[in-house]
Amino acid sequence: MKALILAGGKGTRLRPLTYAMAKQLVPVANKPILYYAMDSLYQAGIRDFGVIISPETGKDVEESLQVWLKPDTRITYILQIEPAGLAHAVKIARHYLGDDDFIMYLGDNLINADLGSHIADFKKAGYHASILLKQVSNPSSFGVAELDACGQVRQLVEKPKVPKSDLALVGVYLFTHHIFEAIANIQPSWRGELEITDAIQRMIEDGRMVHSRVHEGWWLDTGKKDDLLAANTVVLGEYAQARIQGEVDAASSLRGAVQVGAGSVLKNVQVSGPAMIGENCYLENTQIGPYTSLGNGCRLIDCRVENSVLLEECVIESVPGKIEQSLLGKGCRIIKSPLSQQSHKYLLADHSEIEVL
Ligand code: TTP
Repeated sequence: MKALILAGGKGTRLRPLTYAMAKQLVPVANKPILYYAMDSLYQAGIRDFGVIISPETGKDVEESLQVWLKPDTRITYILQIEPAGLAHAVKIARHYLGDDDFIMYLGDNLINADLGSHIADFKKAGYHASILLKQVSNPSSFGVAELDACGQVRQLVEKPKVPKSDLALVGVYLFTHHIFEAIANIQPSWRGELEITDAIQRMIEDGRMVHSRVHEGWWLDTGKKDDLLAANTVVLGEYAQARIQGEVDAASSLRGAVQVGAGSVLKNVQVSGPAMIGENCYLENTQIGPYTSLGNGCRLIDCRVENSVLLEECVIESVPGKIEQSLLGKGCRIIKSPLSQQSHKYLLADHSEIEVL
């Protein structure tokens, strides 16, 4: 079985971060989102990966996956010139996929599923497609599946006004080559994209066996800032462990699952876990966490940060009050203004956001 991972797209909802980087490479608990998908597929026994990339961020995705690569894995990159939809991504991967069965995984999704057993069931039962579903409280925001009593999918509807179930499509799909025939017979949707829901619906109409499995674990979308922070909270809660590789002085205190990376120095710092501090960070007179991750090389002095994700080499110095629910891209600086107390000074890129009192 091959895997097709979708790491193209535009990532407009995560701007301005995605002006500078691929959304799939944004870290959650200090690990790129894409690595979670790769790890989970690897654990399920997949060794042959096709990765959809975009012209804007493809090179970065390739470089990052070079670091992830294992000796027994093969990665083929498939360039998608325009983000013309999930089914379009499948269509252009035909030369890589051939007639093999494959698992498709959206590279910006985080899912703690046992994909191995999902794949095994799929192979044993001989389904033509199988989708993963999750019970949600707001089905109108998702692609929703209506099932019959045996779990076969009767109908898929994209963002229904009156949903017939609360089962949303999660970003993992299993397909046989019959999906290509279905894609060849659909038209772009109102938003100009070839939709995977339309292709699966087409398979159902063609009499193919489209099965479903309801996922009980977590499924985290990382499309928007608040989703990403929520994902960071869940993943830190699950994976952070107390591990100190840097230097922590006697005036500092670390409570709960706190990781401090090699080369980092903490002086009079109070950290509440779960929290992750990367390598070569310098922190002084500062309070961190819970649910905070700092990338490598951050420098925080006289400040308080909670429920936040800071990418590499951010600097925060002498900032009054608490910084919370914040997402800072690489090398961002927040420092005390040398101007009078009523003034603020900004240098912001397009679509930056600041909330002030
Ligand atoms: P989306 O989140 O639906 O799309 P997007 O990445 O363009 O984001 P936004 O809506 O914020 O602009 O995509 C889900 C995943 O699939 C994500 O990892 C990007 C990837 N993708 C492709 O690889 N090709 C595509 O044509 C599309 C639409 C998405």
